[in-house]
Amino acid sequence: MTIDLAALPHDFLWGTATSAYQIEGAVAEDGRSPSIWDTFSHTPGKIDNDDHGDTACDHYHRWPEDIELMRRLGVNAYRMSVAWPRVKPGGDGPVNAKGLAFYDELVDRLLEAGITPSVTLYHWDLPQALQDRGGWPERDTAELLADYASVVAERLGDRVGYWTTLNEPSCSAWIGHLEGKMAPGLTDLTAAVRASYHLLLGHGLTVEAVRAAAPGAQIGLVNNLSTVTPASDRPEDAAAARRHDGHVNRWWLDPIHGRGFPADMREVYGVDLPERPGDAEAIAAPLDWLGLNYYFPATVADDPTGPAPYARFVRKDGVPRTGMDWEIDASGIETLLLRLTHEYGARKIHVTENGSAFPDAVRPDGTVDDPERQDYLVRHLAACASAARQGAPLAGYFAWSLLDNFEWAYGYDKRFGLVHVDYPTQVRTIKGSGRRYAEIVREHREQGRKAA
Ligand code: IFM
Repeated sequence: MTIDLAALPHDFLWGTATSAYQIEGAVAEDGRSPSIWDTFSHTPGKIDNDDHGDTACDHYHRWPEDIELMRRLGVNAYRMSVAWPRVKPGGDGPVNAKGLAFYDELVDRLLEAGITPSVTLYHWDLPQALQDRGGWPERDTAELLADYASVVAERLGDRVGYWTTLNEPSCSAWIGHLEGKMAPGLTDLTAAVRASYHLLLGHGLTVEAVRAAAPGAQIGLVNNLSTVTPASDRPEDAAAARRHDGHVNRWWLDPIHGRGFPADMREVYGVDLPERPGDAEAIAAPLDWLGLNYYFPATVADDPTGPAPYARFVRKDGVPRTGMDWEIDASGIETLLLRLTHEYGARKIHVTENGSAFPDAVRPDGTVDDPERQDYLVRHLAACASAARQGAPLAGYFAWSLLDNFEWAYGYDKRFGLVHVDYPTQVRTIKGSGRRYAEIVREHREQGRKAA
C-alpha cells in the first residue's frame, strides 16, 4: 500500500504522543501529589494485574534517552502532557517550582533536538485533592483548570507553540463517571453529564487563559471520535446510531463550534446542565486547530435497558482486530477528517493520536518485529493522506505512542509503542513499526527537498 505523501504539506508535523501518568512514574517525587489515577490504580481490582503508574516508563528520569529515541525516529514533533499534580499539587494554591522546572527543561531539550512540543494541559490526571472537593461534576474544577493552565503557559509559552486544553474529555466524562472503568470510577449519569459540561467549560476558560499568558499560542481541543454505523436496517438501530454519534461525537463538537449542546442528546440524558450566562460563549472560544484521536469504528444496536445513550456495541465477525479487540478500519480516519472539514469547517487538524496495541515480544536477537502494527500505521497514514488530497487541512500526525506504557485499566499488557519497553529493566528497543515510521518521515522530507 502506498501513502500519497505529496498530499501532505512540507511543514507537516510528524510526531509521537504520550501522556504524563502513562510514562513518567516518580509519582511521589519533587512535590507531586496523588492524582485520581494514583487512587484508582491502587484500588484493588480496578486495573488488570493491579498495575499502576508508580514507575511506568520512568520517563521522569529517563527523558534524555526518550528524546534521543525521537531523534532516531526522525520525528519533528512530540505531543506530551503536563501533570497538573506536579505543577499545582493541591489542584489550586501554591505552584510547585520543581514540577514546573521538569517541563521547562524537557521543552528546552526537545527544541534543541529539533522537535516541536505540543503540550496537553489535562490528560486525565486530576489532582486527588480536587476530586475530594467534588471533581469535574463541580464548576470550581473548570475554573481551577484555567488557573493551573495559565501558570504553565506563562512559563512555557515563550517556547511552546501548540497547546491542547483537554485530551478526550468524553473518556473523562463517560468512562470515568458513567461506566466506572476509568478514574474516578463513578457510575452516575447526573455526575457524568455535569462532568461533561464542566470539562467543556474548563476547556473554554483555558483557551482564554492560555491566550492571555502566551499570545502566540495555537490552541486546540483533542477529541476521540468514531464513525458510527447501525447494526441493521431496523429504525431502532438507526436511532441508536444517531444517539451514539451524539454521545461520542456531536456532544463534544457542537458546543465548541457555537452550536450548543445537541438538543436530542439533552433529551436522551434528561439531566439539567449547570448552565450560566456566558458559558456557551466561553465554551465556543475560537480554536486554532482541532485534534482528532482515532482508533476504531463503532457498529451499534438499540439497547433500551442499557445505560445512556441506550446503544450497545455489536461485534462484527471476520474483521481484523488489534490486541485491544478493536476493529481495524482505516477508512474511519478519512471519514472523520472529512467530517471535521465539511461539517465543522475545520481550518487546521492534527491527528493527535492513532495507533494499535499488539502483544509484541523481543526476539532472541534483541529486535522487535510488529508487522500488524506496521500495517495499521501504513493503512491509516494512507487514509490520512487521502483525506488531505480531498481537502482536509491536515497539518500533523502523532503516532500513539512513542513508548509502550501504562494503558489505563489494561495496565502494561497492552503495548501501543513504536518503541518496546522492557519494564523490569526499562530497556527501550525501537520496533519494526518505529523503523517504518522513520522511513515514511524521511521519504516525505526527501520529497519536500526535491520539490523545493
Ligand atoms: O492510551 C490511550 C491514551 O491515553 C488516550 N487515547 C487512547 C489511548 C489508547 O487507548
